[in-house]
Amino acid sequence: MRNLLAGLDVGTSKVCALVAEAGADGEIALLGFGIAPCNGLRKGIVVNIEATVDAIKAAVQEAERSSGVRIGTVAVGVAGAHIRGLNSHGIVAVRGGEVGPRDIDRVIDAARAVAIPLDRQVLHILPQQFAVDDQEGVRDPVGMAGVRLEARIHIVTAAQSYGQNLVKCCERAGITPSEMVFEPLASADAALFPEERELGIALIDIGGGTTDIIVFHQGAVMHTAVLPLGGNHITNDVAAGMRTPAADAERLKIDYGVATSVVVRRDDNVQVPGVGGREPRVIPRRILAEIIEPRMEEIFSLAQRELLRSGVADNLASGMVLVGGSSLLEGTQELAERIFTLPVRRGLPINLKGMPEELMKPMYTTAAGLLLYLGQSRGVGNVPGRFGRWGRLRTRLTDWVRDFF
Ligand SMILES: Nc1ncnc2c1ncn2[C@@H]1O[C@H](COP(=O)(O)OP(=O)(O)OP(=O)(O)O)[C@@H](O)[C@H]1O
Ligand SMILES: [Mg+2]
Repeated sequence: MRNLLAGLDVGTSKVCALVAEAGADGEIALLGFGIAPCNGLRKGIVVNIEATVDAIKAAVQEAERSSGVRIGTVAVGVAGAHIRGLNSHGIVAVRGGEVGPRDIDRVIDAARAVAIPLDRQVLHILPQQFAVDDQEGVRDPVGMAGVRLEARIHIVTAAQSYGQNLVKCCERAGITPSEMVFEPLASADAALFPEERELGIALIDIGGGTTDIIVFHQGAVMHTAVLPLGGNHITNDVAAGMRTPAADAERLKIDYGVATSVVVRRDDNVQVPGVGGREPRVIPRRILAEIIEPRMEEIFSLAQRELLRSGVADNLASGMVLVGGSSLLEGTQELAERIFTLPVRRGLPINLKGMPEELMKPMYTTAAGLLLYLGQSRGVGNVPGRFGRWGRLRTRLTDWVRDFF
């Protein structure tokens, strides 16, 4: 039987559906893909069901056509400012003097028994470390002798209604979400090297509507956050600042935009299309940079605050990886290095095999990562660098998805 996997990234700018197959060697390789523009979301949240359903249908149909595979269930990415990440910890007495899998369940239950409001649903429970008696930093405590077991975990929760709308859109488009995955977690699977997660790294996904942050240290997720800002805000700033229509502002931004005026030559000029039949104007490119720079600085300053909250800001030995379409903005890396004083690299979906060149871009890391994430949770494929065998505790998410109907 073929081991087929499908992932769906419903972004603020586009919907991307990917189909892959896990081979006998454990390698997950792409079979086909479909991309459709989407304007049914604002800041990562579905605001227009019809438009979102149409975009999902179009992307899924194209992915089915190009792969020759019929898509039934998918792993869907979730983002949006309604997502919250928090750290928690729990302690239990070990039964019988040796830690067993049941003790792990109990200690995780104790750790997740923090106050989670009724309207929020747990998306992920991500263990950070266990401790047995005074022995800290244990990844797999099963079989260890001791009387006290402690767990530190990171919990990602989502507002129920937003998740429900996303599920509804998928169902209306004729597909069933089998898992919902916090988007930067998927992006990390696609773009990071295992040693980066060990040494400490922050991945920042600057998309159209949101900027998602995830911080790893010693193989574990230490912090997650979503900022309600992205490339669309930059486009709006350019449209207002240049008094030009949004579509022209988007083009201007992509063709000539820069994140910091430092990288602009003094004699660089750009042509700005006029509004309402007015003549185009020629202006110094530096002015465009001066419109974009404060917004990028705002995004990075808010991200910096999140890194400080993570408690490992000083231990990010591998620095930072930038993904998402807006990371393509010229000068973004330079600005990030200046603000974070970390080594910064651009991330690409390198861990998924068979990606055509047109998908080897920072905006497709989430979609590619969804397949790798799904493979891991089904026990196929070999995504390197995960946190031991307890790294992917199954939440009762499938039940959550089912509860909607
Ligand atoms: N070359 C480029 N230079 C600057 N910005 C770009 C470039 N290419 C794409 N973008 C911007 O990237 C954004 C889209 O990125 P991406 O596809 O990662 O977002 P998304 O996943 O649809 O949205 P989100 O994750 O926020 O829901 C848009 O704002 C677009 O203007
Ligand atoms: Mg995205």
